[in-house]
Amino acid sequence: MQVEAARHRYTGVAMALHWIIAGLILANLVLVWCVDKWPESWTRPVIDTHKSIGITVLGLVLLRLLWRAAHPPPPLPADYPRWERMAAHLAHAGLYVLILAIPLSGWMHDSAWKGGPTHPMKLFWLVPWFRIAPIANLDPAAKEHFHDVFFAIHKWLAYVLYGVFGLHVLGALKHQWIDREPELQRMLPGRPPRGA
Ligand code: HEM
Repeated sequence: MQVEAARHRYTGVAMALHWIIAGLILANLVLVWCVDKWPESWTRPVIDTHKSIGITVLGLVLLRLLWRAAHPPPPLPADYPRWERMAAHLAHAGLYVLILAIPLSGWMHDSAWKGGPTHPMKLFWLVPWFRIAPIANLDPAAKEHFHDVFFAIHKWLAYVLYGVFGLHVLGALKHQWIDREPELQRMLPGRPPRGA
């Protein structure tokens, strides 16, 4: 029974990574939404924190993908219609692409920053971190250009994330409250999901 129930739930590591990554992404969004409302003297530390959190997210997403390869997620309930399973798989794939591409484009944007050489990166003021050399070593005019291009990509990917994230949450809530499937329990520790 326990073994059968566990088949309908993500592993503890997958759950921990899911909620830690979600929390860090939210924290990173809150920082950039608020930075203009806070005193100007906070801007640099806030953006440095945003970069540190973003690089941490990148590492955790890579870890999560490795974990997922070794521990496939539990199958979706067999009675979900085909279109819903496909939509769920597409949303999950889209989320993975976005949560990799957003920090990566932020890092590329930062690597093209002209202030980079005088402002070395340190994760959480502790761990020295590197900029992407082929970008950081471009000539000043090209760097300026790519600084803008990578920022536009970073920003637009974040807008797409809002949309895909909205669909992901709506889908989960529909299964939970309209279809009355134990959807959230699949990603939460505790008692085995009902019907598992
Ligand atoms: C969890 C990952 C990340 C998310 C969700 C995220 C999201 C965002 C968003 C929504 C913005 C504001 C765009 C706008 O103005 O409309 C932004 C700005 C920015 N991001 Fe990220 N980002 C992430 C990771 C990173 C990383 C890893 C770096 C660099 C190492 C970075 C560097 C920046 C910089 C420099 C800005 C401009 C801030 C400013 O000057 O106002 N981001 N990010």
